Amino acid sequence: MIFYFTSTGNSLYAAKHFDNELYSIPQEMKKENRHYKVDRIGIVCPLFEFDLPVLVKDFILNSEFETEYFYIVMTYGMHHGGCAARNAEFFEKAGLHIDYFNTVKMLDNALPVFDIEEQRKLDPEKKVDEHLAMIRADLDERKRYIQPASKEEVDFYEGYMAHAIDYSASINKPRYKVSDKCIGCGICTRVCPKGCIRIKDGRPAYDYSNCFGCMSCIHACPQKAIGYAALQEKNPDARYRNPNIQLSEIILANHQN
Ligand SMILES: Cc1cc2nc3c(=O)[nH]c(=O)nc-3n(C[C@H](O)[C@H](O)[C@H](O)COP(=O)(O)O)c2cc1C
Repeated sequence: MIFYFTSTGNSLYAAKHFDNELYSIPQEMKKENRHYKVDRIGIVCPLFEFDLPVLVKDFILNSEFETEYFYIVMTYGMHHGGCAARNAEFFEKAGLHIDYFNTVKMLDNALPVFDIEEQRKLDPEKKVDEHLAMIRADLDERKRYIQPASKEEVDFYEGYMAHAIDYSASINKPRYKVSDKCIGCGICTRVCPKGCIRIKDGRPAYDYSNCFGCMSCIHACPQKAIGYAALQEKNPDARYRNPNIQLSEIILANHQN
């Protein structure tokens, strides 16, 4: 049994390599009773700001798991910052024993930081499928492993955090802007895992109170009409979805209406 969250398909692609029984976290969150009892449970999700996305933390803290083997695999783009080792305390507080925690480097979809076209060029050297197969073998033999935090990753994380932007002042302020290219198709409303968007007068209207910045809406817009309001994007014309994942799968995983 795997619980996954994905905004652009990387984590769903990874999850498909590990198990056939996949459950979307945004859909599970609609259920009142979240008690799961099965011999192996996994969580697969993207790394956001060197951490688990808030939605995933919320799911973990507000669900009960009974299992003999609990694993976490996070997909990320460039630097994981030692997230596996750093999250030990969070899982301890949640009363969860983690048997296996690993990361997979895939394409980085963080638009304010990277040009997706440049990122695509790095794909071959990331050897994603090889790495996924290695993790699958680890899981099948129920390996116990928590990815250690290398000095390079810790240094990178600490350097980043020292200059991190404080987003608290921007909560409820427009995070995204919608251009005249918008045709009101509503795809953004269906890929949002928190149901923050509705179509009003033929255009998306955002309620930012639950938005955690996953960028699903920006990447899925077929017109490339959604962009960052305050931050300069590296390439406003480049958008991403994992080439092995259909838009319909992301809608099925994330839709709230
Ligand atoms: C808001 C946000 C924050 C991110 N933070 C990081 C990060 O700290 N380090 C990193 O290497 N990649 C980061 N990424 C890139 C994603 O973790 C990566 O592209 C991931 O594979 C996307 O998975 P998905 O397609 O399943 O959503 C971030 C992406 C987003 C949207």
